[in-house]
Amino acid sequence: MRIVFMGPPGAGKGTQARRLSERTGMKHLSTGDILRAEVAAESELGLLAKSFMERGDYVPDSHIIAMIQKHIDDPAGVLLDGFPRTVMQAESLDQSLQAVGLSIDKVIHFTLNTDELVKRLSSRAICSSCQLPYNLISNAPVNKGVCDKCGGRVLVRDDDKPDAINNRMNVYETQTAPVLDYYRLRGVVEEIAATGSPDSVFQVLTQTIRLG
Ligand code: AP5
Repeated sequence: MRIVFMGPPGAGKGTQARRLSERTGMKHLSTGDILRAEVAAESELGLLAKSFMERGDYVPDSHIIAMIQKHIDDPAGVLLDGFPRTVMQAESLDQSLQAVGLSIDKVIHFTLNTDELVKRLSSRAICSSCQLPYNLISNAPVNKGVCDKCGGRVLVRDDDKPDAINNRMNVYETQTAPVLDYYRLRGVVEEIAATGSPDSVFQVLTQTIRLG
């Protein structure tokens, strides 16, 4: 199965993708996590991506497509989190999948109002090592600044600062909303309200993809 998770910044795509991957064994491919690891490693791609990401702009399509292509036919199934984000990425993904006799089975669109999105992003920190997200108000690490899961450093993302959050919301509306229309024409989009606790959202998610 190949599932795409879509939704504005902070809607909970990463949180739900991690859970679904643990439940099903599907490969969780987060372009944001991959890029942050490249930035931390100061690789060629990381050095290129850093300034785009800090501003909340998208990294150029050609780099993203090359980065993701080798994983799309993983036999365990794939959960795409944060990709495709432009119509060009969606078209390129379709071509690559068609070439190996595969297609996107479902697109899950997580929806949430802007006030709640900004609230979640403004109080988020993530582990710089395993990328586990925390909420510094309601779900902070037990030891300040230290990841409960792997002991890595828990930090605020550069793009979770107010100016970058605003830009990310605008970029999502202009560049990623059209990708939803692209998939709606194929009848594969399922809408999920991302309100409520992570557990309750996960329950709706598993029902939507008929896992439980
Ligand atoms: P990326 O990391 O993908 O950022 P994003 O899409 O903006 O999404 P987020 O990670 O901010 O949010 P999320 O929806 O995953 O929410 P989360 O689960 O963390 O991309 C970052 C950047 O990389 C981009 O801006 C771009 O520069 C670049 N990039 C990535 N992909 C690209 C591509 N394809 N093309 C070009 N450039 C690309 O949850 C958020 C917070 O809310 C957490 O604190 C969490 O604990 C909390 N939370 C989650 N669920 C709930 C709930 N139900 N109730 C309460 N709190 C909750």
